[in-house]
Amino acid sequence: MTSSQASRSSTASAPLRVPFIDLVAQFATIREEVEAAVRGVFERQTFVLGPEVRAFEAEAATYLGCRHAIGVASGTDALVLALRAAGVGAGDEVIVPPFTFGATALSVRNVGAIPVFADIDPRTFNLDPESVRRTLTPKTKALIPVHLYGLPADMDALGSIARDRKIALIEDAAQAFGAAHRGRKAGTLGTAACFSFYPTKNLGGAGDGGLVTTDDDAFASRVRVLREHGSRERYVHDVVGTNSRLDELQAAVLRVKLRRIDAWNAGRRRLAGSYRAALSDESRAQLPVEVPGLEHIYHLFVVRVSDNRAVRDRLIEAGIGCGIYYPSPLHVQPAFRDLGQREGDMPHAERACREVLALPIYAELPDAAVATVSAALRGVLRATR
Ligand SMILES: Cc1ncc(COP(=O)(O)O)c(C=O)c1O
Repeated sequence: MTSSQASRSSTASAPLRVPFIDLVAQFATIREEVEAAVRGVFERQTFVLGPEVRAFEAEAATYLGCRHAIGVASGTDALVLALRAAGVGAGDEVIVPPFTFGATALSVRNVGAIPVFADIDPRTFNLDPESVRRTLTPKTKALIPVHLYGLPADMDALGSIARDRKIALIEDAAQAFGAAHRGRKAGTLGTAACFSFYPTKNLGGAGDGGLVTTDDDAFASRVRVLREHGSRERYVHDVVGTNSRLDELQAAVLRVKLRRIDAWNAGRRRLAGSYRAALSDESRAQLPVEVPGLEHIYHLFVVRVSDNRAVRDRLIEAGIGCGIYYPSPLHVQPAFRDLGQREGDMPHAERACREVLALPIYAELPDAAVATVSAALRGVLRATR
């Protein structure tokens, strides 16, 4: 979610009774630790690729259960560098969902490859393996499933497609830090994975940041070289790399937050349960699915309603922060129009864009707020029938 997305949902009619997100409330719980960590960086005056980044990379790899975690400048760069490390380039096709933040597909274009859209499973909002199978061609070089809203994609089916075709499987785990798939963390389920630490993410920094994870030593080494001007040795450029490093200040803040991530995700899951109890008999709102074996971390709690824009506008008028992620599918957007896809080609993604509505969810949200939001949603749904 970008800052404009976050602010559109939370400030359209201030002051909100229940904000969509409240990073000030989160900061109040970690202020001393964050201030001490930031002070430490200033005292050392090492701002780029220093001890905080090394420690964060090691701690993130241990937490997730993978061999390598490489800090980069953003989630978008994580995707671009992972694609490059997987050898994806001009003329290659990469299968992506059309119902995701634009960066998933834009990163494919940014390495000169062709994004090929496959539709989503309407129950989970994640890439549908059957649609992926129909979309494969001899040019397919990689799949990028997105663990949308914090629910892991069907990695068993997608993993078997990737193995059969000997193509890369790159998880877009930007919204899923700490989510799990049959006991393994998102971020350890494919060739490599990409995380975003954009401030509103469930593990968010104090600015932009991202992470590439992998178990493959050679892949990790290629990402490290690419993020550092293509250099293994200073002033020797082996490949055309770039400057994409996580900085020390971000890593210092992220280390503090990483220690809380399980508690925060548990808080999100608990609140999701409260929404479920409060809205289970509301037939005009379809609740998100819980898939056996998958641990959803509810980066976003998203219901389906008919005419989501009208419901969103009325809820915001009623003082409830909410948002539509995402209002328009990627295959019909100007940046992808030359690929020749039209409205109607991705019916499940298109319908989701008309129906999804994200309600406030974050660890500091008081229980009473769930009741307030649920009551307001019921009232709006009755009125917009
Ligand atoms: C699914 C998804 N992929 C990629 C990104 C890109 O991450 P960033 O904003 O850190 O570049 C985001 C978040 O913004 C995202 O939600």
